[in-house]
Amino acid sequence: MTKKITAAITAVGGFVPEDRLTNQDLEKMVDTNDEWIRTRTGISERRILKGEGKATSDMAAPAVLDLLKKRGIEASEIDCLIVATVTPDMVFPATANVVCDKIGAVNAWGYDLSAACSGFLFALTTGASYIESGRYKKVVVVGADKMSAIVDYTDRNTCILFGDGAAAVLLEPNDEGYGILDSQLKTDGSGRYYLNMKAGGSAYPASVETVTNREHFAFQEGKTVFKFAVKGMADVSADLLDRNKLTGADIAWLVPHQANLRIIDATAERLGLPKEKVMINIQRYGNTTAATIPLCLWEWQNQLKKGDNLVFAAFGGGFTWGATLVKWAI
Ligand code: UT7
Repeated sequence: MTKKITAAITAVGGFVPEDRLTNQDLEKMVDTNDEWIRTRTGISERRILKGEGKATSDMAAPAVLDLLKKRGIEASEIDCLIVATVTPDMVFPATANVVCDKIGAVNAWGYDLSAACSGFLFALTTGASYIESGRYKKVVVVGADKMSAIVDYTDRNTCILFGDGAAAVLLEPNDEGYGILDSQLKTDGSGRYYLNMKAGGSAYPASVETVTNREHFAFQEGKTVFKFAVKGMADVSADLLDRNKLTGADIAWLVPHQANLRIIDATAERLGLPKEKVMINIQRYGNTTAATIPLCLWEWQNQLKKGDNLVFAAFGGGFTWGATLVKWAI
């Protein structure tokens, strides 16, 4: 009997820009203060990609190159590359095309996937399916966002939250039971009113009016999103454990989307996980949207052990949310 093929994460790469935007910097830009930001969100500073024409692909490309170096393979060996992002370089072509060109992935096809803060989980599950089917051997999944491109730095409700960053994982076939074991993903389009970027799509194409009305920036009704996020992320993570007959005691690490420390704490508490088992870097990077979960893996990879059970969990615009169970393979 042939063994079941799973998609194992065999390398992680990451990139964060050098420039920092601190709470103290924001105090000079809008009516806010360090204490409010830290107690309400957990954030102290974020990274910002600066430079004329610098785009999401300029973070995604070095993240993928980092991953290739660690795995010791060439870009030409990549079969497929998926970029989860809501801040593509351009509306089209896809940022995946740009990344493949920049790194020399001449044999890969690819595309962008838009699921906001859940983008990495959606792309990871999609990429894993290509491996599980036997169709491809090397799939790269990138989470990358240049949120500073769509943040209104006059709006204190949102400008304190977001930062820029990119990270990527390589998926390869495994027949020993390591890798992506299960995912529970959800969307509810009725949540679209509470977290969105109104203009620039086909509903409200760019016009003098949309620019004047500041509609090319991310808008969020924070309180509403918070309520849905706390429940959504905790529920889906608990369901995922239940249906795999696991409890918090079986989990080595929770790898949560980094939107708000209070949402992360609620999810950890629901799963019965102590703080030491939760990856948290929101204080240094803020919310990098699709990049938060792979950036955590990038920073924690030396502490992970082969066979560790990990739960990835996210909630974001759409609404989109979900959780993924992973057995660490390296
Ligand atoms: O990643 C995608 C999913 N996104 C999320 O999961 C984010 C979910 N939402 C949140 O994390 C939180 O709702 C925020 C951090 C965005 C806001 O925290 P909150 O505890 O929900 O605050 P609030 O919006 O209810 O505002 C409380 C007060 C208000 O003043 P009043 O009306 O009580 O006088 C705001 O005007 O805080 C005020 N406020 C601020 N004060 C200082 C709002 N923003 C700021 C600010 N600095 N930056």
